[in-house]
Amino acid sequence: MLEIADKVIDENLQGSALESSVNQEASKKFYIESYGCAMNFNDSEIVASILHEVGYGATKHFEEADLILLNTCSIRDKAEQTVRHRLTHFKGLKRRNKQLLVGVLGCMAERLKEKLLEEEKLVDLVVGPDAYRSLPSLIAEAEDGQKMVNVLLSREETYGDINPVRLDGNGVTSFVSIMRGCNNMCSFCVVPFTRGRERSRDAESIVNEAKDLFEQGYREVTLLGQNVDSYRWENEITNEVVTFANLMQRVALIHPELRVRFSTSHPKDITDDVLHIIAKYDNICNYIHLPVQSGSTRILQLMNRTYTKEWYMHKVKRIFEIIPDCGLSTDIITGFCGETEEDHQETLQVIRDCKFDLAYMYAYSERPGTLAARRYEDDVPEDIKQRRLDEIITLHRKNSHASNQADVGKTYRVLVEGPSKKNPLDHNGRTDKNKMVIFPKGNSKKCDYVMVKITSCTSGTLLGEIIED
Ligand code: SAH
Ligand code: SF4
Ligand code: F3S
Repeated sequence: MLEIADKVIDENLQGSALESSVNQEASKKFYIESYGCAMNFNDSEIVASILHEVGYGATKHFEEADLILLNTCSIRDKAEQTVRHRLTHFKGLKRRNKQLLVGVLGCMAERLKEKLLEEEKLVDLVVGPDAYRSLPSLIAEAEDGQKMVNVLLSREETYGDINPVRLDGNGVTSFVSIMRGCNNMCSFCVVPFTRGRERSRDAESIVNEAKDLFEQGYREVTLLGQNVDSYRWENEITNEVVTFANLMQRVALIHPELRVRFSTSHPKDITDDVLHIIAKYDNICNYIHLPVQSGSTRILQLMNRTYTKEWYMHKVKRIFEIIPDCGLSTDIITGFCGETEEDHQETLQVIRDCKFDLAYMYAYSERPGTLAARRYEDDVPEDIKQRRLDEIITLHRKNSHASNQADVGKTYRVLVEGPSKKNPLDHNGRTDKNKMVIFPKGNSKKCDYVMVKITSCTSGTLLGEIIED
């Protein structure tokens, strides 16, 4: 998911009020907030496109909206609580403006269905991730006072023909969804229930979307899916089969100045073909997000991840054999059902051995309906989960600080993303290996590639100066 902004978003679970170029002719206004992973943020851009078609323009001020939408996430309980607090916030607004419609989209809509209408009285619309095309008709019915729900999941929907309206973007980097759903059944995970079966999007439409983005000035695309390595699309006319490796190659060939990233890879599915394609093209970033989840084979089995610790370590070795200078990031869950102190020590050991550049770490949160919720007891006490989480975060920070220190004195090609938040005289951008770099602007502009010499660092960021314009 984010790297990759998606993961940062996911980690912080911060909603983002997305805005787009306001449609001047729009007769009505919608306001949308997104939570969760990059795919959800990308879905909001699809929703914006569908709403634009029927005369709704985006606004970033919910006070002036006719329609408020929350595109929600269910991955952990905290994600759902955040949305519930947000809904409470809109109650007063709804009391003052009886015409205002409030809709819940995304994974929480899918998980809770009609129940959400009973639990949250101000909600008028509940729409799941595969039902966004029905939004215009649902809104029309809701305007007549009906409460509307569409949570049908689809085996075909990919929104492949919809050109997303880029919301709140930086004009430099963008997400492109290449598939939807997930056929894996990791026992802790709610995604297969909220997003349905896996399906791949038409390769031509993906390449065209990436081309369009490049022509509009974007310089980086991140190909998104819950499990990108199982991407597979067959051209019905030519019978040609496009794998993920083929797809990346096609996107990389659009232009050498277009960087290509992807997320997320499942350790069991990433192939040598994919690794060779990354190694072959300079504009495919040397960076892989490979969630390990746990360092204990016993826990991995309970999680139904279908690989062992040894398999994971072998994959990592293979990555470095084929792409010697590869950035590596991961996701880890602490305190999964039955996790002992020894299991936890094994996770710490994997962190020591792999020295991840980035890691997104979470305490296990039981999700209703998942395999783990049905079969296993959530038996690690909250304080122990938190203590283990603190330990893995501390170890990871130590590693990432050491890795950043090793970069001091080196020079990297950085894609300029825009002004730094802390100091408008600085720019920020990322290296091929996805490390954030901050440096004085000089003559550089957004979307430029610049060579930056690293002069110092923190545990999360590199600081440097441009050495060539
Ligand atoms: N498809 C991606 C992950 C999607 S969810 C993959 O397979 O890697 C993003 C991350 O959230 C997961 O990798 C996992 O680390 C975390 N996560 C998922 N379910 C969780 C749960 N019930 N409790 C805590 N963290 C969870
Ligand atoms: Fe969830 Fe596993 Fe699918 Fe990732 S691969 S979305 S963790 S079920
Ligand atoms: Fe993404 Fe959260 Fe749904 S991580 S797929 S929005 S449960």
